[in-house]
Amino acid sequence: MQNFEFYNPTRIIFGENTIPKLADHIPTEARVLILFGGASAERNGTLPAVRKALEGRFTREFGGIEANPTFENLMKAVELIREEKLDFLLAVGGGSVIDGTKFVAAAVDFEGDPWSILTTHGANVKAAMPLGTVLTLPATGSEMNSFSVISRQATHEKLAFGSPHVFPRFSVLDPTRTYSLPVRQVANGVVDSFVHIMEQYLTYPADGLAQDRFAEGLLLSLIEIGPKVLSEPENYSLRANFMWIATLALNGIIGVGMPEDWSTHSIGHELTARYDIDHARTLAIVLPSMLRARKEAKRGKLLQYAARVWNLHEGTEDERIEAAIIRTEEFFESLDIPTRLSAYDIGEDAIEPLIGQLEAHGMTALGEHADITPDVSRRVLQMSL
Ligand code: NZQ
Ligand code: ZN
Repeated sequence: MQNFEFYNPTRIIFGENTIPKLADHIPTEARVLILFGGASAERNGTLPAVRKALEGRFTREFGGIEANPTFENLMKAVELIREEKLDFLLAVGGGSVIDGTKFVAAAVDFEGDPWSILTTHGANVKAAMPLGTVLTLPATGSEMNSFSVISRQATHEKLAFGSPHVFPRFSVLDPTRTYSLPVRQVANGVVDSFVHIMEQYLTYPADGLAQDRFAEGLLLSLIEIGPKVLSEPENYSLRANFMWIATLALNGIIGVGMPEDWSTHSIGHELTARYDIDHARTLAIVLPSMLRARKEAKRGKLLQYAARVWNLHEGTEDERIEAAIIRTEEFFESLDIPTRLSAYDIGEDAIEPLIGQLEAHGMTALGEHADITPDVSRRVLQMSL
């Protein structure tokens, strides 16, 4: 196990009817900006519940944060905060609203070009406004981590940053707030959290006994509840488990002391930037090919994954590995998430521009061994056609 420091200051307020508790965690004198996405938070009663919890407080609202939140739009929120001298941010929504709010928090007092927060991946962030969240879509883990992914419309870019300054102070996780999710978003959430676990687990054996068993437990739980969480939208127990699994998948705890991959995410972000495919759907396309392309480097963990997660014990090593990758694809497809580029009418001619994007963003040494060169990424994309 590698040396590590673990720090996660986010308070989780979990359970049914927990939105009123917001008021206990936002200072009474705060000038609050409530940020949200499209119409869903209003329609499903989440925003009205938030307004009620903050009755009598000074609040302003900023709606319209889009899926894959854009720099251009978020800078309008930054202006509003400066004009109105607001000092606390409350994100109400999924990963996009929370990520957007983190960027706004870091950008308000940032000196210099705020886009450089993304190009330096957060290294230049020295401070941020305090923020809290009310989560409505289990998927990204953004409610309990220090990461944010922002898109720039003008240049078709999608980049991530991380900074300890943008950890939410608190996050309210009320599983009943997810009942209104369309099936497609629930499926996206299952796949995104599955791949978050895989990016931290499926590298090489690194002697993290608890981390491995924890990751395998989360994967097994997702496989168990995945199909049911889609078909039974108002099953509280299923939604509560799904919500907490998605948070645990990317709140840092399973990755401590372990090598991490994240190459599937880096390639996936380029697919979203160019073709506007939902984040999780890009991962389902890339992950299986990535596992096949890196079979030798990942052999030990692929065999462990085959045995412990998919209960595959028969056949040669290569047969067990291939069977585990096929099970993974079948799991994604069972949630109606395609695993091929052809499902989006994307063909061979798309590959070179995607490789060009990866090179332009310095994504030329990806993965746990930093050996995923553009040549390897090209092969992965070809295998995903
Ligand atoms: O805009 P509204 O009307 O609110 O609708 C949203 C949106 O269209 C809808 N939705 C959310 N909660 C709902 C709901 N509809 C009905 N009922 C509810 N309760 O769902 C749609 C998608 O929302 P979005 O926030 O975009 O989805 P998600 O949570 O999957 O976030 C995706 C973004 O997070 C980034 C992705 O790249 C992408 O930009 N990621 C962030 C990470 C992080 N911060 O750690 C890690 C991830 O790997 C990921 O990259
Ligand atoms: Zn993800």
